[in-house]
Order: sequence, then C-alpha cells, then structure tokens
Amino acid sequence: MANTRTGRDTWRCKECHGWDYRGVDGAYGSGDHRTGIRGILGTRRTEQELVTLLRESAPGPSGGHGYGARIPEAELRNVARFVLQGTVDTTRYVDAMRRFQGDATRGGMLFRQGVGGVASCGSCHGDNGLTDPPMASMGFDDFPGAVARGNPWEFLHKVRFGQPGYVMPPLHGRANEADLRDLGAFAQTLPMARP
Ligand code: HEC
Ligand code: HEC
Repeated sequence: MANTRTGRDTWRCKECHGWDYRGVDGAYGSGDHRTGIRGILGTRRTEQELVTLLRESAPGPSGGHGYGARIPEAELRNVARFVLQGTVDTTRYVDAMRRFQGDATRGGMLFRQGVGGVASCGSCHGDNGLTDPPMASMGFDDFPGAVARGNPWEFLHKVRFGQPGYVMPPLHGRANEADLRDLGAFAQTLPMARP
C-alpha cells in the first residue's frame, strides 16, 4: 500500500479504484495513489449486489464498503448504476503515453462551439481554458489544459459527469466517444497555467 491518504479523501471511489476505473490494472497500479485494489470496470455483480456491497460495513473478504451509514439507499443505487452503465474502457480514449487518441482540430471546434446542446467549454473556461468559470472556487487552477495533461482519466470522467457542486454540465449521454476523444486531444494542447 503506497496510498497514504487519510480522512475524507479515502471515501472517494477513485482513491481505491482509480479515475480510469481499472484499479490495480490502471494508473493507480503504481505511484503515490497505489492501492493494489481491483477495478470496477466489467464487474459481474448485479445492481442489487452492488448496492449491498456498497451499503454493508467493514471492508473485508466480502468487500463491504460501509457507505450505508452516510449515503441514502437511493444514492447508492445511482452509484451502482454508474458502475454498470457509466464506466467506460478508458484505454479506448487514452493511450499508454497518456495521450487522448482524438482529432485536436475537431476538438477545438467542439470546445468553442459546444456539443450535445449544452453551453460550450469555452463559454465558461475561455477559449484557451484559462478563464475562471462562473462561481469557481478561490484560487481555481485546475484548468482544462492542466487536468487533461496531468490526469487524462480524471478529465474524461469530469467532462462526462461534471464537477460535483459546480455548474459544469455533464456530457454523458450527450457526446459520443469520438467527441470526447477529440475534446481531450484538444484540451491537451491548451496551456496548463497562466503565463
Ligand atoms: C478504501 C478503499 C475503497 C474505496 C474508497 C472504495 N472501494 Fe470499492 N472495493 C474495495 C475493495 C478492497 C474491493 C474488493 C473486494 C473484493 O475483491 O472482493 C472493492 C470492490 C468493489 C467493487 C466490486 C468489483 C467486482 O469485481 O465486482 C465495486 C463495483 C466497487 N468496489 C465500487 C466502489 C464504488 C462505487 C466506490 C465509491 C462509492 C468504492 N468502491 C469505494 C475498496 C474500496
Ligand atoms: C456552465 C459553465 C461550464 C461549462 C460549460 C464547462 N465547465 Fe468545466 N468547470 C466549470 C466549473 C464551475 C468548474 C469548477 C470550478 C471549481 O472547481 O472551482 C469546472 C471545472 C472543470 C475542470 C476541472 C475539474 C477539477 O478537477 O477541478 C475541467 C477539467 C473542466 N471544467 C473542463 C471542461 C470542459 C472540457 C468543458 C466542455 C466539455 C467544460 N469544462 C464545460 C464550469 C463549466
């Protein structure tokens, strides 16, 4: 176990299973987030089995997660549905060199003009990704260019599902695989920080 995070961060699914959903087989198989825990992609459990797995206490051989004390049943069911229907094989988007396998030129057009009928990335983040989006937290510096290059799997997840607690519109169900790859490829050409 190389993952030394404690407190509230340890409750986040991604700390154990990875932003790429692949656990030990993915990006968290090494480095300071290393946990050695299996991924959630391609689980054979049913929705009901997953709800139970997440609700019941004490991590152990049965894999109980103990979220039942804090997260209502209906939300656990939503999380189970995400596991079954929302996860994707991220190797179809990001190669071993952490590069999005997309068309950056087309991605730039989507970034500026929008996709899926929601506000464009550029309208909130600026065309170069360095503008503070509406109601951003103080000192926000996780610019699209920084996240896309630093952690392409986190970028993909947040573009698909939004940023919890903020107004960013999720593209899951609105953008197709090529759109997401292209957006990622373009974002990896953006500056990571303000000059
Ligand atoms: C502190 C570490 C930790 C966190 C946080 C965590 N898990 Fe797990 N999870 C595990 C372990 C360990 C197992 C493996 C149990 C086993 O192998 O039987 C597991 C198993 C699973 C499985 C079953 C995989 C399979 O092959 O069937 C799913 C699905 C899952 N977790 C989803 C989640 C979700 C969703 C969250 C966040 C709400 C989450 N986990 C948070 C440690 C964690
Ligand atoms: C309606 C405004 C809005 C739109 C449209 C929008 N975002 Fe965001 N985005 C935000 C806000 C607000 C945050 C969170 C700011 C904060 O954490 O303080 C955010 C956060 C982010 C983050 C950082 C997440 C993190 O880890 O902190 C990335 C990356 C990002 N957006 C990329 C995109 C991309 C790519 C698009 C287009 C597909 C997009 N955003 C569209 C408002 C928007």
